[in-house]
Amino acid sequence: MTNRILNHPVLDPIDESEVVTFTFDNKEYKGLRHESIAAALLANGVRTLRHHEESGTPRGIYCNIGHCFECRVSVNGEQGVRACLTPVQEGMNIESGGKLLTTVRDWRASQNG
Ligand code: FES
Repeated sequence: MTNRILNHPVLDPIDESEVVTFTFDNKEYKGLRHESIAAALLANGVRTLRHHEESGTPRGIYCNIGHCFECRVSVNGEQGVRACLTPVQEGMNIESGGKLLTTVRDWRASQNG
């Protein structure tokens, strides 16, 4: 495993003995039991979890405490799962959020035309 702080000066050491295997966008990754999907993906170098509905810009972890909804992914077919709050589990099939439909529109577009 890489990209993890294994011996934090304040927190308990991370137990690396329980490894789980999961997929993200059809690619296989390893994570640690009890860590979030977002943490497991970040530890594997994956920072883009979805793309903005309107602009298509990449989105990833922002608040990491469940407030911003920027980390939405699909888990085993269920859309809108917050990766920062959901523990990664063995065999999970995770897909990036993609461009979900939304009623939010950029009001500036109508002002310029
Ligand atoms: S990063 Fe903000 S809700 Fe997950």
